[in-house]
Amino acid sequence: MEEVYINHHPLVQHKITRLRDKNTGTNEFRKLVEEIGMLMGYEALNDLETEDIEVETPLEKTPSPVIAGRKLAVVPILRAGLGMVEGILDLVPTAKVGHIGLYRDPGTHEPVEYYCKLPDPIEQRVIVVTDPMLATGGSACDAISLIKQHGGRRIKFMCIIAAPEGLERLKREHPDIQIYVGHLDRELNENAYILPGLGDAGDRIFGTK
Ligand code: PRP
Ligand code: URA
Repeated sequence: MEEVYINHHPLVQHKITRLRDKNTGTNEFRKLVEEIGMLMGYEALNDLETEDIEVETPLEKTPSPVIAGRKLAVVPILRAGLGMVEGILDLVPTAKVGHIGLYRDPGTHEPVEYYCKLPDPIEQRVIVVTDPMLATGGSACDAISLIKQHGGRRIKFMCIIAAPEGLERLKREHPDIQIYVGHLDRELNENAYILPGLGDAGDRIFGTK
């Protein structure tokens, strides 16, 4: 089961254009990342299970669906993935939140793990992993391997911008997950930054550098 969903919604594409603009400041950038998280979350969660409860309208009683159980976990890859979390929590406020800390070594571009705290147990949950950027794919692949080691099975990965190289690697190493991409960009440069991209997502969200 390999499922890749490339977003084409005009609202998402408009907001991504604002993100790309180097003149977009931290405040607007952070708000846009959160909004895109919500819009992409709405799409990615369209297969959440529901169950009927009985509700009384002003006119009569009727069965009507609600989300079944409290079975969602959102797992941002720190730091930049944090920016998308609130948007998804606006949709599902009861979701649990895990955190995986990874940074890319500037020389090798390989991810280095520094933190992992996941909801326990995680086996039964739908897990949405968030990171705005899928570049070489190393961070996403390692984060998803960690989640699988903890027992996670139903995994969705959500990114705003993907490079073809990272998307291919993620599909190859984790063919059993669903992947949601806001926009598929052209390529990586010699420093493994995405072109045209939007620069360093973590720095732009948090105003560092
Ligand atoms: C960025 C980004 C991803 C990773 C993508 O994080 O948020 O996690 O790089 O690159 P990859 O696909 O080649 O692994 P970074 O390491 O810059 O950390 P930060 O979010 O703390 O800034
Ligand atoms: N991480 C980012 O934040 N931006 C890129 O273009 C690549 C990795």
